[in-house]
Amino acid sequence: MKITIIGTGYVGLVTGACLAELGNDVFCLDVDQKKIDLLNSGGIPIHEPGLEEVVARNRAAGRIQFSTDVAASVAHGEVQFIAVGTPPDEDGSADLQYVLAAARNIGKHMTGFKVIVDKSTVPVGTADRVTAALKEELATRGAAASFSVVSNPEFLKEGAAVEDFMRPDRIVIGHDNSPEGEKAAAKMKKLYAPFNRNHERTFWMDVRSAEFTKYAANAMLATRISFMNELANLADHVGADIEAVRHGIGSDPRIGHSFLYAGAGYGGSCFPKDVQALERTARQYSQDLLILRAVEAVNDKQKLVLGRKVLARFGADLSGKHFAVWGLAFKPNTDDMREAPSRELLRQLIDAGATVAVYDPVAMAEAKRVLALDLTPEELARVRFADSPMDTLTGAEALIIVTEWKAFRSPDFDRIKAALAHAVIFDGRNLFEPEAMAEAGFEYHGIGRSILTRT
Ligand code: UDX
Repeated sequence: MKITIIGTGYVGLVTGACLAELGNDVFCLDVDQKKIDLLNSGGIPIHEPGLEEVVARNRAAGRIQFSTDVAASVAHGEVQFIAVGTPPDEDGSADLQYVLAAARNIGKHMTGFKVIVDKSTVPVGTADRVTAALKEELATRGAAASFSVVSNPEFLKEGAAVEDFMRPDRIVIGHDNSPEGEKAAAKMKKLYAPFNRNHERTFWMDVRSAEFTKYAANAMLATRISFMNELANLADHVGADIEAVRHGIGSDPRIGHSFLYAGAGYGGSCFPKDVQALERTARQYSQDLLILRAVEAVNDKQKLVLGRKVLARFGADLSGKHFAVWGLAFKPNTDDMREAPSRELLRQLIDAGATVAVYDPVAMAEAKRVLALDLTPEELARVRFADSPMDTLTGAEALIIVTEWKAFRSPDFDRIKAALAHAVIFDGRNLFEPEAMAEAGFEYHGIGRSILTRT
């Protein structure tokens, strides 16, 4: 099928590349000429495992093209995916200006029938606004082209997005029951047919329910994390081990093992933004989502827990003290620094007067960019970007782990101990066992794992 993808960010690029991989003829549009030039020269603007290969293969096969030409993009696809950003507005609600601008562009140029797919995460009711924007543009032109807006939210995890797209656990499609809506649903069915060969994975529903499903999924996952983080902090007080508790509850099939890891708080482009946006939607309907307010508050606090443990151990004044930090990205296998807990930790350490050496396997360039915005030049001068994990350690009071990269899981503890001024590890992702660390001669501070300091 001929597909247009509007927006070559995370979601758009992965969707476009994967649909091309399935044999579709994909046209990717972006307003950012630099990004398009990069993609046309074989580069990839984000770090996402497997994506570069898929894009290269399909570019070579002529199944994917990148352009800033709006008229050509509208002419190309019978299905037009809107996958542009929905950044949080000042009040936390999703800013729809890019989604609506994309819709207007389609309305300005379209002829014939088009399926418009809302792929971006958008508040309930957005499809109606997209429909209204399209109708307005068509009326202005006096054009009679027909269309239908469907909702097809993405459930891609950064770092595993290609895999998630190619092996979806579900495909959610919301459409209306008008003749155009049914026609659109038939096209979507054809497009996604390759994923449903083994068994049907598509859930068909009305548009608003589909829009809501995306927020509900992320809100549920964020809730699980904040719940575990809150219990972890209590476990620290009562002398319980949150990891043992996690196993104990996860084995209940009603609870399950996933997304129960206590840590340094959730970050990224989705959870913080989507939880806020759902709360904001609720307020618009005079509803108050008490649970989600707590989820957000707990997460804001959790991002400070690791830093607070360091301050409690080494004192509120850290001037003259040096720390090693492993992991900057909000999670492994990505260079994404959006809402990353490492940023809060660095702010705390720098505010307390410390110097730090940091290392991340892929996010160093992005971290340099982002930290230059977070910190003043004087503050930034107190951050050294190291060449390797071991290179961060010399003379540091302690090692602080913020992101659970695989490369950090089995380090050479003897070398770490030899390099550090004190054999102290703060582990924001509970990578190690407290008993083993004690045996190895480390003072170990995990999240919710103070079993060894039980009174
Ligand atoms: C998430 C959803 O998983 C995905 O379906 C949606 O489309 C976009 O949002 P993503 O933001 O890429 O994906 O990352 P995810 O792996 O879900 O992790 C989000 C955050 O939660 C990370 O900061 C991670 O470290 C944290 N997390 C996750 C925990 O703290 N504990 C856990 O048990 C799981």
